[in-house]
Order: sequence, then structure tokens, then C-alpha cells
Amino acid sequence: MNNFLFENKTKVYFGKGGVKEYLGCLLEHYGDTVMLAYGGGSIKHNGVYDEIVGILNAEGKRIVEFPGIMPNPTYAKVQEGAKLARENHVDLILAVGGGSVSDCCKVVSAQAKVDEDLWELENTKRTRPTAFIPLGTIVTVFGTGSEMNNGAVITHEEKKIKGALWGAQADFAFLDPTYTLSVPMKQVISGAFDTLSHAMETYFGKPDENNEAVMRSVIRNIRVLLTDKDNYEARSELTWASAMAENGILKIGKVTDFQCHMIEHQLGAYTNCNHGAGLAVIHPVLYRHLLPANTARFARFAQNVWGIDPAGKSELKLAQAGVEALAAFIKEIGMPTTFAELGVPADTDLKAVADSTVLTGGCCKKLSREELLDILNECK
Ligand code: NZQ
Ligand code: ZN
Repeated sequence: MNNFLFENKTKVYFGKGGVKEYLGCLLEHYGDTVMLAYGGGSIKHNGVYDEIVGILNAEGKRIVEFPGIMPNPTYAKVQEGAKLARENHVDLILAVGGGSVSDCCKVVSAQAKVDEDLWELENTKRTRPTAFIPLGTIVTVFGTGSEMNNGAVITHEEKKIKGALWGAQADFAFLDPTYTLSVPMKQVISGAFDTLSHAMETYFGKPDENNEAVMRSVIRNIRVLLTDKDNYEARSELTWASAMAENGILKIGKVTDFQCHMIEHQLGAYTNCNHGAGLAVIHPVLYRHLLPANTARFARFAQNVWGIDPAGKSELKLAQAGVEALAAFIKEIGMPTTFAELGVPADTDLKAVADSTVLTGGCCKKLSREELLDILNECK
């Protein structure tokens, strides 16, 4: 393993009823004004909004609402939130939702503290923010694991870039699996696949057993939910796997890849597609290209994650069987397998997507722009 320093400052409150039990006393540590940030309104239909507002009122907090954070949050939305936070002297941002709300709020928290444009500061001057409005997260859909890291994925619409920005790391995160019961099944599966993707993107940098355990758990629990959608055990294991895959622990001591994510993010910049569903289309196609550069890693994946019997198979055949097992699983769980199924318009400029994608080299080999375009075309 490479040398490492590890710290994760987010305090996690996991399980049923956690918000009711702990949020009130937690709020005592912060000032009077709380920004309540959320998405398109799901929390108003499932009772989560009423529960949180009740707790905030009971604690005598002044609530500043920041609603309407869209999936694949935009940089314009970040600026709207930062202005609102600054004008209202917000003491705590409470992000209630999925990765989109959490990501947007991480950057709002940082942008509200500096006059300079954060995108320029981070991408041109290569400086990371150091001052933040405190942030707390209440997770309502699992998958991204955004709640335990300080990375955000933000779409800059004018620049046509969906890229990473560094923002606040939450002081605390509530993970109540029962909050996810109202999430449409399509999004539940998409989120869980995102978790599997995070584990794979980390694994192919350097395979290890912690990663394999998370992957097997995600695969098994997706299958459980497809036959028993309210199963609490499966939902709680997926909720925790989601945090585990992106809280830094699986990445310890290794180089990671995230090439599939880089491609999907740029596809998202051009099409606003669903994150997990975009990954599902790209993964098998990408891996068919990467596999020849390191068959041993893919052969291990086939055996230890998909349980494929190596008997009578060459390393190459075993590796290929692993990637095809992944492709078959994607089909089995009803995720899209082509851009057409994903709803990507046929006239999408895939060359522009390829040309603007960040190329990584953490997996088996670094792709060329030409091969990247081939991959995108094969996804059609
Ligand atoms: O907006 P509302 O009405 O709340 O509806 C949301 C949204 O439409 C709905 N939803 C959430 N909780 C619900 C619910 N519907 C019913 N009941 C509930 N309890 O779910 C939809 C999707 O929400 P979103 O937050 O967009 O999903 P997700 O958590 O998958 O986040 C996706 C974003 O996170 C980024 C992605 O790129 C994408 O922009 N990522 C962030 C990462 C990070 N910071 O670590 C890592 C990931 O790789 C990813 O890139
Ligand atoms: Zn992801």
C-alpha cells in the first residue's frame, strides 16, 4: 500500500429515527439562522420537510429556504444559494436530499465566504477554498456517497463542463434508510449502481478484498430490493455501502481511476442524463477496451465479485466473462445498456464529449481521445 494520512470528520448518524432523536440537540451548536436546502419537492411529499421544519422551529431557528436544487446541479444554482446565504448571514446549511443537493450546498458553503468566483479560483488559480459555512446533510436517496466527502460535481452550463469543485465537508450526516422508501425504484437502482461504479473505479486501480466485499454486498442487495422493495436490511446495507465507497476508506493507499465517471460527467454536461444510468451504459464498453491491458485484474474481478469458476478458462477468457457478467447484471436490473435506451439524443456531439473528457490513467491504461470517441460511439 502507498503511504497515507486518513481523516474523515463527518459524524454519521445512521438508522431509523435518527433525525428525530439527534438533530435538535445538534442544532444547539450552531447559530440562529439555518439554510434549509432541498431539491424539487420530494421532501414535501414524504413528510421529511415537515419533520425537519418542526425540529428547527422547536429549537427557535430562523429558517432560510433554498429550494429547487436540480439533479446535476448547475453553477448558476450554486451562485443563487451563495448570494442567499451571504445576504441572510446563514450560520448552518442543512442539505436535505441526494448527491445533487449535497454537492450544491458544499460549494454554496465555500462560495458564500469568498468574493472571487470559485470556479476560476479552483480551476484557473488551482486554489482550494479554506473558509466555509458549516454544513450538515440529511440523506434521502443513497448512491453517491457525497455526504462523507468534500468533493462536488457541478455543471457549468455556459462552459459545457460537468466537473469537480472542492467545497465544505459536512460536520454531520444523517443516514436514515427509511427516508429512501419514497424514492422511485428506477432512481434507487441507479443510485445503487453508482455505488458499484465507485467501488469498481477504485478496485481497478489496485484490487483488494474490502472493495470486493462492498461490490458483492451492493450486487446482492440490489437483487433483494428488486423482489422486496421495502426490505430494511437491504436498504440499510446499500445506504452504508454508498457512504463507504466514497468516504475515502476504499481508496486508502492506492491510485484510483474514475475514467468511467469522467466520461459520464461530460456526457451529462451535454445531455443532462441521469448519473447512475449513464455509468451503466459506459462501464461494460469501457472495460472491454481496458481489459487487454490488465487481464489479471479483470480475471480476479470475475472470480471474486461475480463468482465465476476459473476451471478450464484462460486468464483472458475469465477476464472477459467478468465484464460480460457485469453487462448481464446491468440488463437484469433494468438499467439502460445503450445511449438510445438512456435517451441520449442521436445528434449529441460525441466528439465534443470525447474532447472535453478528463483522461485518467489510474486503471489499466490511459485512453487516447480517438479510443474514447470509439467507446462513445460503441455506446450508441
Ligand atoms: O429533487 P427531489 O424532488 O428531491 O427529487 C430527487 C431527484 O429527482 C429524488 N429524490 C431524492 N430523495 C427522494 C427522492 N424522491 C423521492 N423520495 C426521496 N426520498 O431523486 C432524484 C435524484 O436526486 P439526485 O440528488 O440528483 O441523485 P443522486 O443522489 O444520484 O445525485 C446525483 C448527483 O451527484 C453527483 C452526480 O454527478 C449527480 O450530479 N455525484 C456526486 C458525487 C460526490 N459528491 O461524491 C459522486 C458521484 O460519483 C456523483 O458524480
Ligand atoms: Zn458516481
